[in-house]
Amino acid sequence: MSIDLSAKIPNNVDLDRDPRLRRALEAWQPKYVDWWNEMGPVGFANADVYLRTAIDVGAQGWANFGYVKMPEYRWGIFLSNPEADRKIGFGDVADQPAWQDVPGEHRAALRRLIVTQADTEPASVEQQRNLGAIAPSLYDLRNLFQVNVEEGRHLWAMVYLLHRYFGRDGRDEGDELLARRSGSVEKPRILSTFNQPVEDWLDFFMFTMFTDRDGKFQLLSLAESGFDPLARSAQFMLTEEAHHLFVGETGIDRIVQRSAEVARTDPNGEAFRHGAIDLPVIQRYLNLWFSSCLDLFGGEVSSNAATYFANGLKGRPHEARFPNHVEHNEVRTLELAQDDHLVTREVAARLAVNEDTRDAYIQDCDRAVGRWNRTLRNAGVSYELRLPNRRFNRRIGEHSDTFFDPDGQPITAEQFTRSMDQWLPSAADRVAVRALQTRAVTTPGQFASWIAPPLRGIDGRPMDFQYVRFD
Ligand SMILES: [Fe+2]
Ligand SMILES: [Fe+2]
Repeated sequence: MSIDLSAKIPNNVDLDRDPRLRRALEAWQPKYVDWWNEMGPVGFANADVYLRTAIDVGAQGWANFGYVKMPEYRWGIFLSNPEADRKIGFGDVADQPAWQDVPGEHRAALRRLIVTQADTEPASVEQQRNLGAIAPSLYDLRNLFQVNVEEGRHLWAMVYLLHRYFGRDGRDEGDELLARRSGSVEKPRILSTFNQPVEDWLDFFMFTMFTDRDGKFQLLSLAESGFDPLARSAQFMLTEEAHHLFVGETGIDRIVQRSAEVARTDPNGEAFRHGAIDLPVIQRYLNLWFSSCLDLFGGEVSSNAATYFANGLKGRPHEARFPNHVEHNEVRTLELAQDDHLVTREVAARLAVNEDTRDAYIQDCDRAVGRWNRTLRNAGVSYELRLPNRRFNRRIGEHSDTFFDPDGQPITAEQFTRSMDQWLPSAADRVAVRALQTRAVTTPGQFASWIAPPLRGIDGRPMDFQYVRFD
């Protein structure tokens, strides 16, 4: 089924058959555009950006590329195709038919899950809004904007669910999503990582690597939901998310490559003096974003997560891969700090569902670190990047009251403070990174000194393609 892009709101949800819903969304649309103009990318509103736009949710044909001015992007509502007779795959409702409407008893919980996911989408656009002015190339500038417009579309996907299934409350939530602001004191975004500043392109690539990857695992969990419209929304968002993750993982890889090339020739292994980023600084940014994103999965022991799981609202990523989908009497072992040492504790498996999701996330991050270390080895550098232990620098959950070093060993607050500049980006690190990123590189085919070119262009286009046209 192809999507009519000339419709006021492109969609594959039969909006024309529900005039009330269509009118409500058409009333929200100008508020969304106002938000985009106020809080979206700074500058570039008149630039023609080589973007993909969804026109079909099928495996092949959903992306078509062309020059678009961002404020005119065709944000639409797309759900993956329904699966006939879909059954819920987990919890106390396992094997029951998936719901096409919101069960009354789960209304508040589902609304909360949808709003929490939805809030991250505009937040990330706000966090990234100043990066265009210091982009390392037209290729990267275009990727930034592709990510931004798709996060906008993810907001549309969630607002559709709120309007369609949650009535008045849902419409109010839709307005609130445009009223909160990343980093605001009075009206912050819901989750802390989405209030953290993204000041430079090392932040941006860490964000698309680690924070968008949190998004991937949240969406995989929601794609299991017994509430079928949410599951189908999440499935289609995942196809877009894959590109964001590609941008982050390859972006860091290209930075690492350039750093290694110059560090190899320096007697002290330094890169900043040669216009690239020091490898230990990359490690510190990694420590910051990885640890912050681990918090997004919630507490290690969570009765909320247990309830969502039991009621079939939110499962685990690729639930089918788990041997047991009910987890009624099972237990899981957690490693926790007690005074200055670690102890193991058994908890009911349902209470530890967040930890299952965190495991899958960490495994995926670890794979990417392995790739960057191959790049380092191939460049002849012995430095290795690594993920800090999951207990390091946590603000939420069982590890938030104790200090840990990057190996996960308990330490005192004083020891942590003393080593902080070794483990997390210092003010000096940020100044040094920003000193390399003072202007945008806008000559086709050229790249800033601190990042290697990618292996190939977007949509089979050459590297010196004009990915963004200015007038
Ligand atoms: Fe998103
Ligand atoms: Fe994303």
